[in-house]
Amino acid sequence: MSIPIASHAFYLPSITKCNDEDKQERANMALVFDQYKDRLATLPKEKGWITENVYMYQGFWHQSSRRISVETVMALQDTFKARPTDIYLATLPKSGTTWLKALVFSLVNRNLYKNNRLSTHPLLVSNPHNCLPFIEIEVFRNTPTYVDPHSLRLFATHIPYTSLPQSILDSGCRLVYLCRNPKDVLVSMFHFANKLRDKSRGLMTFEEAFELFSRGVMPTGPYWDHVKGYHKVSLEYPKNVLFLTYEDMNINTMNNVKRLAKFLGYPFTEEEEAEGAVQGIIRLCSYENLSEVNKHGNLREDIPNGAFFREGKVGDWTNYLTGEMNRIIDEITKEKFYGLDISWCPTC
Ligand code: A3P
Repeated sequence: MSIPIASHAFYLPSITKCNDEDKQERANMALVFDQYKDRLATLPKEKGWITENVYMYQGFWHQSSRRISVETVMALQDTFKARPTDIYLATLPKSGTTWLKALVFSLVNRNLYKNNRLSTHPLLVSNPHNCLPFIEIEVFRNTPTYVDPHSLRLFATHIPYTSLPQSILDSGCRLVYLCRNPKDVLVSMFHFANKLRDKSRGLMTFEEAFELFSRGVMPTGPYWDHVKGYHKVSLEYPKNVLFLTYEDMNINTMNNVKRLAKFLGYPFTEEEEAEGAVQGIIRLCSYENLSEVNKHGNLREDIPNGAFFREGKVGDWTNYLTGEMNRIIDEITKEKFYGLDISWCPTC
């Protein structure tokens, strides 16, 4: 069987922008902020993890900042045009987005970087976030230059299912959702927020993070509603939506990577399997490799590359949650996921 080849690999060799591009991007963002400012003013507010506030839009909390903003979600809803051939990766922040981006980029483009071309693979020198853009961040800001009209398009998003642009829902495209157990998301988000917060705000305590998280307040949360939205649609449209968990990806990496490849329309051939192609991709996208490559340097807006790699483990929450915090999260999860087959692993 022959493997379909991606007609185009999205890859930004560098996110360094020249002054003119940067100015243009700031001007575009200013226009969007201005266009939606009246709507923003009507939204309920809460204390933010990274930014000062988060805003409730269509049942979910969003930031409003130059990095990522609810105004962009509104603008995408008004303007974004999906194509049936697009592939979307959806996650809550800190659920393994970076890993999933690396895996999908490598799977789809594996023929471009075979054998002696492996040394030119972007993931050996660059952050997975440079390889596969978020629709609400890079794509939105740079649509004309980033998107070749004939290319296969790989996109990521944190936008909740019910707030996705209608054109995505109507397009019949494929979407992969990666879910992670709530306690590890909480711990991971706590560390990430403390790395990115304005120094003037001081560090967040874990108690503060827990209090916000358990009330559903986190960027693109409530956690439970985000997961439920995508889980439901994965049951309704299994050919279009694949629901994976970070924990199962860790435990059964090989099976899940093969499953992912098949779902995306890029299944491994017997020959590739015999040659160890699956293991090669797993190694390339491993925490060990990616965290080493991304030890230094920054992603856009001065986010250190290293901020996306901390422990990369399942169950680190046991080092942070008290017995009472654990009980509360379990109780909320049991209630919110009642009757749903969403689980992680016995010890998660
Ligand atoms: P921890 O903070 O628990 O270590 P996201 O990519 O959605 O921002 O999620 C970040 C989390 O995924 C972090 O979790 C990070 O360490 C982990 N991670 C990043 N790359 C990974 C990889 N290749 N394999 C497994 N986990 C990874």
